[in-house]
Amino acid sequence: MKANVVVLPGDGVGPEVVNAGLSVLAAVCDAANAQISIDVHLIGGRAIDECGTPLPDETLDACRAADAILLGAVGGPAWDHLRGERRCEAGLLRLRRELDVFANVRPVKVHPHLADRTTLRTEVTRGTDLVIVRELTGGAYFGQPRGRIGTGHDEIARDSIVYSAAEIERVARVAFALAQSRRRELISIDKANVLITSQLWREVVTALAAEYPDVKLAHELVDSFAMRLMREPASVDVVVAENLFGDILSDEAAVLAGSLGLLPSASLGATDQGLYEPIHGSAPALTGRGIANPYGTILSVAMMLRHSLHREDLAVAIESAVEVCITEDVLTADLGGTTGTDDVAGAVAREALRHLGVHSGAAS
Ligand code: IPM
Ligand code: MG
Repeated sequence: MKANVVVLPGDGVGPEVVNAGLSVLAAVCDAANAQISIDVHLIGGRAIDECGTPLPDETLDACRAADAILLGAVGGPAWDHLRGERRCEAGLLRLRRELDVFANVRPVKVHPHLADRTTLRTEVTRGTDLVIVRELTGGAYFGQPRGRIGTGHDEIARDSIVYSAAEIERVARVAFALAQSRRRELISIDKANVLITSQLWREVVTALAAEYPDVKLAHELVDSFAMRLMREPASVDVVVAENLFGDILSDEAAVLAGSLGLLPSASLGATDQGLYEPIHGSAPALTGRGIANPYGTILSVAMMLRHSLHREDLAVAIESAVEVCITEDVLTADLGGTTGTDDVAGAVAREALRHLGVHSGAAS
């Protein structure tokens, strides 16, 4: 059966890193005779320019029908003046919500060869291998009421953090299951000393722990956990957090890896369908220069092969290839290297084919 992948390159460096990811995907799929159809659609700023909205209906319909969606990045200075539903980010948020991909899985692994590229001491980051499971379709990002009323000094702006027990439970289940497949330690993040939503969060996660007796559960307040993440990151296995806390902690965790450009993510729901994207943004300053780091997108392609396309073998081939390439100093400028985006993709594809036992050139 042919897998149907919808590709949303988006803005800024999005198209460049997505091209890199797709070239690696094509290489491994050719080699393995896996059939994939690629369907490209608009999102973000380019969709605003061409269709007047950051998430055109046509894009949403295509995504709904897809086995998996690969997204680059959205946004940029040209659209920064837009407000509310017309913003690029609103298109991405609506897509996540419409697809109901409530669990955003963000792995952070420190490559031994890059341990000295961070601002932290090597002995602190060494061995870090953690996953943040971020709730993605609730909380402050979507809670009602929200908006602005009044003018001048009397103007009031309001966001609302809203969570139901069911929303907390379903994302916590993803995190518990993930912990079972790893080192069996789960840290649930909240601010239960202040926020009512966090108190419900803690109760629901605690109650669920009875169904996962093999997982050691701990609760940590978001502020002190932010410190622990910098102090002893190697002691962290799986983390589950509400939308806003997960957003902030995952950028903080990216410091450990050496660059935001390295990190992939998978947004998963109740079905096998998933939305895959690097966690970095559109990086306007790098756009069009061919120097953006494609590893985050390439690793997102690996996550897509694993979760949505059920090709663990191809996912492992790509992940192993990335490990080798990083060790061999195939690095973009953000990591102090000189390799361009496309050359990184070429090197990863060659190495992935070697891993699959195919010699380059024979596959395409
Ligand atoms: C992320 C990003 C998005 C978010 C932005 C672009 C809306 O920061 O995926 O982490 O806040 O979710
Ligand atoms: Mg973010």
